[in-house]
Amino acid sequence: MFKTVVTKPFDDQKPGTSGLRKKVPEFQQENYVENFIQSVFDSLEGFKGKTLVIGGDGRYYNREVVQIAAKMAAANGFGRVLVGKGGILSTPAASNVIRKHKAFGGLILSASHNPGGPTEDFGIKYNIGNGGPAPEKITEAIFARSKTITQYMIADAPDFDIDAIGSQKLGAMDVEVIDPVTDYAELMETLFDFDAIRALIKSGFTLRFDSMHAVTGPYGKEILERRLGAPEGTCINFVPLEDFGGHHPDPNLVYAKDLYDLLMSSDGPDFGAASDGDGDRNLIIGKGIFITPSDSLAMLAANAHLAPGYKSGLAGIARSMPTSGAADRVAEKLNIGMYETPTGWKFFGNLLDAGMATICGEESSGTGSNHVREKDGLWAVLLWLNILAVRKLSVMQIAHEHWATYGRNYYSRHDYEGVDTSGANKLMDDLRARLPALPGTSVQGLKITHADDFAYHDPVDKSVSEHQGIRILFEGGSRVVFRLSGTGTSGATIRLYIERYEPDPKRHDLETQAALADLVRAAHELADIKGHTGRDKPSVIT
Ligand code: G6P
Ligand code: ZN
Repeated sequence: MFKTVVTKPFDDQKPGTSGLRKKVPEFQQENYVENFIQSVFDSLEGFKGKTLVIGGDGRYYNREVVQIAAKMAAANGFGRVLVGKGGILSTPAASNVIRKHKAFGGLILSASHNPGGPTEDFGIKYNIGNGGPAPEKITEAIFARSKTITQYMIADAPDFDIDAIGSQKLGAMDVEVIDPVTDYAELMETLFDFDAIRALIKSGFTLRFDSMHAVTGPYGKEILERRLGAPEGTCINFVPLEDFGGHHPDPNLVYAKDLYDLLMSSDGPDFGAASDGDGDRNLIIGKGIFITPSDSLAMLAANAHLAPGYKSGLAGIARSMPTSGAADRVAEKLNIGMYETPTGWKFFGNLLDAGMATICGEESSGTGSNHVREKDGLWAVLLWLNILAVRKLSVMQIAHEHWATYGRNYYSRHDYEGVDTSGANKLMDDLRARLPALPGTSVQGLKITHADDFAYHDPVDKSVSEHQGIRILFEGGSRVVFRLSGTGTSGATIRLYIERYEPDPKRHDLETQAALADLVRAAHELADIKGHTGRDKPSVIT
């Protein structure tokens, strides 16, 4: 029934910021998927007879890998797998299923916001029993194992029916195919005032939710249109496609430009939102105003108590280091804890488990809370809608009021994608070497007060994560941060994060890039971006 297959290790199965991501043809190499999944199982203890959740964002190769993973789970001794129908589970929904059904862990098949298709990206990520991405201790063990693996185990059985809801058998193991939306929609009903949102929509408030042909289509349809009564047409691009219609399923101003343009037009809807390939990212746009993810975190945190799930207040707020400091000012006013972590949702897990943080967010369009252990795109949309329903203000009014209270953190990220890896590394190394000498000096007329290479000391498990981004702080609270992306699949991506704090309400309506122009010039001079990459302009600005 089970067979043991002899294999040879690959040397490139190191999980990145969010699991193993590669081009599909790399995953299609003989034994590549099997080696990685066996390396995951070999790095875990105590799962015999327990439940494993399997689901993905529906991209190309998803269905095949679900079958392989289930057969390997059976051969390795799991007692049951829970699989989303069609192999589909959004990342936050998978996190919820793991928690709700007390699974041992889960395999999430996704390359998030990266394009899909036969020559595009695929990914495999392991999540632990709290529903969150495996911590570095485990991902390092997986990588170590992948370099020495000699065999894997797999059931010698026909494929199970991935589209039939209900129970089946795969050898001795139970396979339970579940509706991917039900558990998640129920959770959302416990957190938000659906009656208030329904009344808002009934009163004529209009919205658009763009699923970018990715996994949130069915979730949006069920929750926004069926349960909240938004008219048909509210959800757009809601049919999940294996190649996302040939687009980047990344909800930013570049890839969701149509939605942005719609919201900027005078006859557009009141509210627009989008989510990414696997449903954990969000884009929030009000009529006439884009809300940066950093601002969204701050505004959601300041108003979260208006939603039933957060009515007793927040324990604390956490953000990744490159995310703007807007949320810090909210935490200060609420007199609650504020935590600054490295990029990667996995770093929030301990803070959430320990009850130290309730809401977390990242500049990379991720916001979420302790309801699951992943960021959650639709959750952010629903919290915004709940706040709008209670406050009866527009997004624009809420933003201006927020800035008047706390000041505005102008913020932008400039990406240099697909640059030569050695040039990118050299840029970082050169800058790192100069850090000790920078404080006290000026560049482009801006005085540097502090410069370091961010290291995180986890207050819960005391682990230390070093080299998490170079930050250069200027007088007055402005800063630039340099970091190499950990999620790309070709070449290197340099991310330059730029932030400027503006307390004066009379200066809260500047154009963002203009407001940051001197800092951008300073960043170029400090790091010699052109010299190291040959580029003088970023490929993407968000
Ligand atoms: C994924 C992770 C996030 C992270 C983002 C950006 O979406 O889940 O936690 O912020 O990637 O990572 P990168 O390394 O590409 O900047
Ligand atoms: Zn994602």
